[in-house]
Amino acid sequence: MTASASVTVPVPALPSGVDSAWLPPEVFRPLGSRRTLILGTGPLVDTVHGEVADACARFGGDVVRDARAQGAPYDLVLELGRQSEEEDGLGDEGFALVRAEGVTRVTAAGQAGLLYGLFHLVRLGEAAFEGERARETHRPALALRMLDHWDNVAVHPVMGQVERGYSGGSLFWRDGLARGSRDELERVRCYGRLLAASGINAVTVNNVNVHETEAHLLTDRIGEVAAIADALRPYGIRTHLSVSFAAPVVLGGLPTADPLDAAVADWWAETTGRVYAAIPDFGGYVVKADSEGQPGPFTYGRSHADGANMLAAALAPYGATVHWRAFVYNHRQDWRDRSVDRARAAYDHFAPLDGQFAPNAVLQVKHGPMDFQTREPVSPVIGALPNTRLAVEIQATQEYTGQQKHVCWLGPMWSDALRFRRGGEDGPSVGDLVRGGGLAAVSSAGDDPFWTGHPLAQANLYAVGRLAWQPDADPRAILHEWIELSFAPEETADPARLRSGLRAVLDGSWRTYEKYTAPLGIGFMVQPGHHYGPSVDGYEYSPWGTYHFADRDGVGVDRSQATGTGYAGQYAKPWAETYESPETCPDELLLFFHHVPYGHVLHSGETVIQHIYDTHFEGVEEVEEARQVWAGLADLVDAARHTRVAERYEEQLRSAREWRDHINTYFFRKSGVPDARGRRIY
Ligand code: GCU
Repeated sequence: MTASASVTVPVPALPSGVDSAWLPPEVFRPLGSRRTLILGTGPLVDTVHGEVADACARFGGDVVRDARAQGAPYDLVLELGRQSEEEDGLGDEGFALVRAEGVTRVTAAGQAGLLYGLFHLVRLGEAAFEGERARETHRPALALRMLDHWDNVAVHPVMGQVERGYSGGSLFWRDGLARGSRDELERVRCYGRLLAASGINAVTVNNVNVHETEAHLLTDRIGEVAAIADALRPYGIRTHLSVSFAAPVVLGGLPTADPLDAAVADWWAETTGRVYAAIPDFGGYVVKADSEGQPGPFTYGRSHADGANMLAAALAPYGATVHWRAFVYNHRQDWRDRSVDRARAAYDHFAPLDGQFAPNAVLQVKHGPMDFQTREPVSPVIGALPNTRLAVEIQATQEYTGQQKHVCWLGPMWSDALRFRRGGEDGPSVGDLVRGGGLAAVSSAGDDPFWTGHPLAQANLYAVGRLAWQPDADPRAILHEWIELSFAPEETADPARLRSGLRAVLDGSWRTYEKYTAPLGIGFMVQPGHHYGPSVDGYEYSPWGTYHFADRDGVGVDRSQATGTGYAGQYAKPWAETYESPETCPDELLLFFHHVPYGHVLHSGETVIQHIYDTHFEGVEEVEEARQVWAGLADLVDAARHTRVAERYEEQLRSAREWRDHINTYFFRKSGVPDARGRRIY
């Protein structure tokens, strides 16, 4: 192997026993067995060099990094620099790819673009080096592609270390401190590498619920955040921090955190200056304010625009943004009062503030109006604030979708949300509307050897970056990519069986999960607190605002304008009209929008009650089948991965049966309507 004098950032070594996820060594064979020339300088070019050198060391190829070597015959040229006018449009993160006369050439105007170009080649595999390829260009649709870690530094007495985390402890924090051993930081680097290969460029390293210990990350503990930022930087990932709105009081000793108080603004400006002294490429703040007990501007009679703008002003000198979450609602609701509707809250709070947010304030909106349920309509907030930068938030951690004990491939769900067009077919999609703010996902990764607890949940983590890169991407294509990378089927004895088996267990798994859990968009029905497993009335008489209103005659929430909470009116046409009537409302959202009798006939031709019974039996059968398919792949899948998934299928099946029996029995008892097919209902 030839090496030039330039700096090489070595590829981080996967700690022993840790799963290689979507970057197993084999996928670098096509690249690593060829001759590559790298042109350009800079830290991310050094990372690219490290990647190619590592692949070449493994597979016998050759890498040179010297402009004088231009004439020699290379299979691949990776070049930083502007080749043509067109490249100007590719920004820092885009790249161009062409193949002619036996040479594949990736060019990028920015270093990050070269890194993404490299991982694009990895995805293409041998195809990147075959035939001719007309010049194609790639650039991310969304500039911010972020994973939010709900990680606590100290173990929280109720939520544990990672809030809603199902993958062990935090990758960043242990025993109340930032992970600092060589191995631990190496693992953080490996994480950054995986994320970069999926298209992610930002990470928030702590929970949106900022507890006392974590508040200090902003000030006296910023050095620990800087160490994490150092580990992530070689893969183009910027570090962000969740901060407490009360920080000026809690950390600064000020009597108030009033956003319009000059001393408060000064405190934030100075504090932010110190953050940048420690982390020059710091990404910005994420804020959960006036939500579920977190402090916020309401305490001082100020608006959320006042709060966000004060932080935006502190970040503006550094060109950074504040991500201000729109998840604001009354969590002390009276269930007796049916006029209050939690689904309305974000729109009611934020739509009137349109145009009042600073240019570097981004409103971060959950994709649905409630809380990451298996099925929700798209939040009416997205599209309702044309003069506000918006980001959409999705949840990779499977809080309500099986907690990484169940297989639930979420690509199709997220894709539906991103492709939703609030104004109808001719209007912009959600993916278009969040161009100014980006996509943020609650991360599912932890210190579990498989990163995500359930090895197949890695597909969701992978899809976040890919969908943020291209929100209108076909989720089937993303799943295909993930399978090819993670399982390298061509290297196994039976590629076709492996591919079809993986697709069989993953493709429809979200719909399967939906079938055996809460029906027709009604949501929740989960055990309170931890949110795993069924409890139909668990939240029914609670203050959280998540009700189903089942009685002997029917079920569902009337959110129509005519007779209900009026939520349907928060949409523009055509959706406001479509959702308004049970006749036009899509079946899968019927109970979200309407309270209907059990005998109501769906578009499918079934009654609501029969649909509930049928889907619950089917859902369990589908899990039984998937478990069988998985068992049949034992000879083609890494043993550790196979065993872990097989174990989780046992729990999924147990849980699916429990869901089926709870839901079916509950609705049989309420309605008294027997199953038309005479199956056993307890
Ligand atoms: C959900 C989740 C909480 C989280 C909250 C949020 O309610 O259960 O753990 O803090 O969302 O998004 O802020």
